[in-house]
Amino acid sequence: MKHKYNFNEYIDRRNSRCHKWDGENPMYKKSENLLPLWVADMDFQSPKPIIDALVKRAEHGFFGYSFFPDEYYEAVIHWFQRRYNWKLERNWIVFTPGVVPALYLSVQAYSEPGDKVLIQTPAYPPFTASVKDNGRKSLLNPLKLTNSRYEMDFEDLKEKVKDPKVKMIILCNPHNPTGRVWTKEELAQFGDICLENQVLVISDEIHADIIYPGYKFTAFASISEEFAQNSITCTSPSKPFNYPSLKVSNIIIPNTKLRGKFIKARKKIHLRDPNCFASLVVEATYNECEDWLEEMLKYITGNLEYLKNFIRQNLPQVKVIEPEGTYLIWLDFRDFGYSTKELTNMIKEKAKVALEDGFLFSKQGRGFQRINIACPRSILEEALTRISNALNST
Ligand SMILES: Cc1ncc(COP(=O)(O)O)c(C=O)c1O
Repeated sequence: MKHKYNFNEYIDRRNSRCHKWDGENPMYKKSENLLPLWVADMDFQSPKPIIDALVKRAEHGFFGYSFFPDEYYEAVIHWFQRRYNWKLERNWIVFTPGVVPALYLSVQAYSEPGDKVLIQTPAYPPFTASVKDNGRKSLLNPLKLTNSRYEMDFEDLKEKVKDPKVKMIILCNPHNPTGRVWTKEELAQFGDICLENQVLVISDEIHADIIYPGYKFTAFASISEEFAQNSITCTSPSKPFNYPSLKVSNIIIPNTKLRGKFIKARKKIHLRDPNCFASLVVEATYNECEDWLEEMLKYITGNLEYLKNFIRQNLPQVKVIEPEGTYLIWLDFRDFGYSTKELTNMIKEKAKVALEDGFLFSKQGRGFQRINIACPRSILEEALTRISNALNST
């Protein structure tokens, strides 16, 4: 397929101080030649309007304290209205320098030490970390894997929310690492259970813009006024447009009381102003980069097809959990019968490919690996060939 943008281009990112290619991660200390398809960071340059906005602002040469002007809020509001049919009000939008900091602040704002927070596993590791690091306890509501598809376990959820210590639940929609894009019906059932039991929903929707053809993203809070009042939604253009280190995210909090508590928690560490690049970059993104996003989605859809074909032909023991969203694909290696350590060694030491070990996402993730397919096809080809050679030569 011909693309308007050249996603096939390989640009050397080594020695650019990026975690993915030359970070501090211990896996890089051991092996120089690891091919990195682990952390959720894409090997595509951000679209040109974003680079232009950054260069122009940098050339101004002043980097003083900054704030978000009206144009910023307009760009965010239009994007949400256009893409998710969710009408935001300006004062619902609260800045944080990243979604993970917002999760940590939520735990501080909406629970007390010793309280419990529900997490649906397998889960993005900072979910449980945000709970543990703040002296709260995680209570797990594991997802069920039925016919290679993950589903919420509503019966288990109904039991767990009865615990009076449970104050909140962290929802991941679309779900990292399983790739589920929860349907409106699933979210409605989930939301009703939380509402009936006064459990606050923290909805992490950072992957909302990365949806495969045939699936539809629903913003949890857009379903009903009751859900909007019983939730906070964590969003950022940094994931689909690849600028997580610019540290800008929008936390949507329609409920005045909840918003007040969040802002109070933020104030305790005087976390208020964005960096001077943030508003310009987000405006450029939401106003000028939608076509780039659509093309990028087509490209990773092609990568997904490539991955599935490759695995069918060369690694038939590996099951691909069909993703509905995200560029992070959850692979089931359990049929090989390796221990957790053996599987890690096989992928990292023998194949020399860095994926994310499934056990990092929960006990359920043992025997799984997560691969990031947001890279030029040549990188994906090389990684899969290395893995296939390693596993097929034992
Ligand atoms: C579900 C989820 N939330 C949050 C983040 C990171 O958010 P941030 O970089 O804005 O802190 C990621 C990154 O992979 C993610 O997958």
